[in-house]
Amino acid sequence: TEAPVKIAITGAAGQICYSLLFRIASGSLLGDRPIELRLLEITPALKALEGVVMELDDCAFPNVVNIEIGDDPSKVFDGVNLAMLVGAMPRKAGMERSDLLSANGAIFTGQGRALNDVAADDVKVLITGNPANTNALIALKNAPDIPANRFNALTRLDHNRAISQLAAKVGVPVTDISHMTIWGNHSATQYPDLFNTLVGDRVAADVVNDQAWIEGEFIPKVAKRGAAIIEARGLSSAASAANATVEHMRDWVLGTPANDWVSMSVPSDGSYGVPEGIISSFPCTVTDGEYTIVQGLEINEFSRARIDASVAELVDERDAVTELGLI
Ligand code: NAI
Repeated sequence: TEAPVKIAITGAAGQICYSLLFRIASGSLLGDRPIELRLLEITPALKALEGVVMELDDCAFPNVVNIEIGDDPSKVFDGVNLAMLVGAMPRKAGMERSDLLSANGAIFTGQGRALNDVAADDVKVLITGNPANTNALIALKNAPDIPANRFNALTRLDHNRAISQLAAKVGVPVTDISHMTIWGNHSATQYPDLFNTLVGDRVAADVVNDQAWIEGEFIPKVAKRGAAIIEARGLSSAASAANATVEHMRDWVLGTPANDWVSMSVPSDGSYGVPEGIISSFPCTVTDGEYTIVQGLEINEFSRARIDASVAELVDERDAVTELGLI
């Protein structure tokens, strides 16, 4: 029998995981392969997590061979092949950005070290917890024995949101949209690029033919979608964030579709003038479990300014966590 793939998931008693765990367990991530779930929470949330595990048990998912829970990353991450770091410290009222960065810094330094010490040699780590790009940078820097390209951050939700908004605008099914790219940070400065996106075989910006809509509606709507969902639902997006987390990791493991790419936040190699080392969103393809940043795309002046602004924010965040001694 096939050895189970060991999958660590943090923040397992939280909102996103209440959707994510069941999607993974039912086969949305790896299909018909045996898996072992390793669920990490903080101590006060372990009781709630036990309840979630009772529900997982009650689904009798055929591919779930074992579930372990705990509050110690050096135990929970032991031998894991995939790690999805969802748990993070939310921004509370009155919290400065530096407070948020240090609170999360403490989480991601510890988890990075634990992964470094005990994860499987082939581990892939995807950070969903915000600020996702900079949390991924902190984890990476605290895991010097793991290759840097095994640390990604999630911009797939932004990617999916952009596809959905564009499809609605031009009146086509989402399956007609390809080659979408989110550039930069998973934040309000992110840049969804319609100049390289295709609707059928035509450039999306030409099909839209309305720069005012792109600048005044499309870009802000994609960037502020999270806030709109909180406003409507009274809670932040969770099922769609879980879906994006599954899709990013699935594509990273199993590969991207032929003739398309996806948006992944990965350590920059200097492509497109993004400073080497920061974790920024790029168009990526995946074959044999390794991603490649798509090269040679044309970046017009409008796109250049937007990408530069988002990248400048990532550089600021990197400098802030450097100053805090987290990396
Ligand atoms: P939530 O607050 O419902 O759940 C977070 C869970 O993480 C809590 O159960 C908490 O106890 C746990 N946690 C906190 N510190 C931990 C630690 N050190 N180790 C293990 N678990 C820990 O939040 P929700 O809605 O599930 O969101 C999780 C994160 O995902 C947030 O940071 C949110 O901002 C982020 N997010 C990211 C998106 C993206 O596109 N990158 C989209 C939506 C949310």
